[in-house]
Amino acid sequence: MSETNEIQLNMMIIMKPYVILNAAMTLDGKIATKTGSLEISGKEDLKRVHELRKEVDGIMVGINTVLVDDPRLTVHKIPSIKSDNPIRIVVDNQGRIPLKSRILNDDAQTIITTSNKVKKDKKSLEHCKKLSKKANIFHSKESSVNLKELMNYLYSKNIKTLMLEGGSTLNFSMIKENLIDEIRVCIAPIVVGGKYAKTLFDGEGFDFMNEAINLELKNSYQLGKDLILEYKVL
Ligand SMILES: NC(=O)c1ccc[n+]([C@@H]2O[C@H](COP(=O)([O-])OP(=O)(O)OC[C@H]3O[C@@H](n4cnc5c(N)ncnc54)[C@H](OP(=O)(O)O)[C@@H]3O)[C@@H](O)[C@H]2O)c1
Repeated sequence: MSETNEIQLNMMIIMKPYVILNAAMTLDGKIATKTGSLEISGKEDLKRVHELRKEVDGIMVGINTVLVDDPRLTVHKIPSIKSDNPIRIVVDNQGRIPLKSRILNDDAQTIITTSNKVKKDKKSLEHCKKLSKKANIFHSKESSVNLKELMNYLYSKNIKTLMLEGGSTLNFSMIKENLIDEIRVCIAPIVVGGKYAKTLFDGEGFDFMNEAINLELKNSYQLGKDLILEYKVL
């Protein structure tokens, strides 16, 4: 795993963490069912995910993933100690994360990143003040968190390797901005269908195939009943 790379922000070359997107999906590309149910991969894969969490400095998700799944994002399915937990980052424009979310527990540090929408809304501002007692807040000056700016900030906080754990909206924003270096996907031998079920990348999508992000398959192997595919983003 190469550890760092550079991105361009307003003509300035800045540093960013090495970003690995990891996800479990069904054969038909769904990362949850239309109701949000997401027990997809087997126990061997869950161990693999927690080994990866233990390896990285930070782990990032979008606010909807927190609202739907209430994840802890800690290392707890393999033997571990508190210091193995990566720093948790939530991308949350409006500071909607509930105070009782498990991601705010004291098992690890949490960074919540918000946009300028918070300052324009008294209720959000009040809520963010309460959140700031449980987490560090990164305020982006734009109406949606500027992900390049965020990557630079995380790098400055010593996050040199970052695991991206979804969901599909944040995944698309990250890949569109060319901020993902590697994709590791676990494909479970199941099909759930549903046009409202989330896929690995949603967001607005590209209009034409020639805009597609190209990947190179670096590794593939069977793990229990699942298939693991590891791609480099070109
Ligand atoms: N199978 C798996 O491996 C896996 C892993 C993770 C999640 N999931 C599933 O994915 C689903 C959630 O995915 P989702 O697409 O609904 O939501 P998401 O990607 O978790 O969160 C997206 C939200 O993040 C906020 N955001 C702030 N700045 C952003 C930016 N620059 N780019 C993109 N988003 C930004 C936006 O909400 P605001 O504007 O309100 O801030 C946006 O709607 C859940 O069902 C979860 O279970 C599955």
